[in-house]
Amino acid sequence: MPTFSPPHLDLTFMSPLSEARAERLVAFLAGGEPASVLDIGCGWGELLLRVLEAAPEARGLGVDLDEESVAAGRGEADRRGLAGRVELTARDARTETGSHDAVICIGASQVWGPDVSEQQPLDYAAALTALRGLLPHGGRLVYAEGIWSAPPTPAATAPLAGRDDELVSIATLVSLAERHGFAVLAVHEAGRDEWDAFESGYTACYARWLAEHDPDHPDAEEVRALAGRQHAAYLGGYRGIMGLAYLHLVAV
Ligand SMILES: C[S@@+](CC[C@H](N)C(=O)[O-])C[C@H]1O[C@@H](n2cnc3c(N)ncnc32)[C@H](O)[C@@H]1O
Repeated sequence: MPTFSPPHLDLTFMSPLSEARAERLVAFLAGGEPASVLDIGCGWGELLLRVLEAAPEARGLGVDLDEESVAAGRGEADRRGLAGRVELTARDARTETGSHDAVICIGASQVWGPDVSEQQPLDYAAALTALRGLLPHGGRLVYAEGIWSAPPTPAATAPLAGRDDELVSIATLVSLAERHGFAVLAVHEAGRDEWDAFESGYTACYARWLAEHDPDHPDAEEVRALAGRQHAAYLGGYRGIMGLAYLHLVAV
């Protein structure tokens, strides 16, 4: 398998998230003047670091399975003078316990459900139950998860889990949050530009590899095929159909 450049070189966040929307999330989380902030599936922790910059009294914990992302986040925390207030750790977040005034969970519900490779419906209920257990009454949660923005088509579902019930609509997601111990303060959804930027950044590692290697390299055909498959999956498949909803939730 060829080695690719890490995603943080081409993406600010590992999700469809514009600067304006990130600011809105940071304002909500920091607005509660949290003493502790937990980011589940933090990737390289960019949003967590921004919340800590906006909430100078807060301490942060970011947990992600991906060692390389976590290490990149630690380097960034150090560079921004936040290393003393944040712990970024590579481990399974499924067993996370404790209570945090603010929690971030963006695109990481699979932590508590079946692995994505099992092609099962996303277990939002398990995620919301676990997240509620990590917050005190009044604690703030940014929960962002995949939804169907439009009715799923065979072309959209084929490169995903291959099933119409993998995701739910935004209305169902909000109702699930309300039934799992949360009041909903705001609901918004990533737009087409955010998705295009995310998918472009996500696949940029293939273009980087092809630009840096000889066209006759033994792995070149595989890299071209990987890039082509991902572009077809998005542009000819789930673009405009799979969405990402952002919920500002308060534990009640
Ligand atoms: C879609 S990415 C989102 C990353 C980050 N929240 C962001 O928005 O930039 C999902 C992340 O969840 C992490 N993840 C998946 N399963 C996990 C688990 N069991 N424990 C901790 N992290 C996990 C992945 O490594 C990945 O970084």
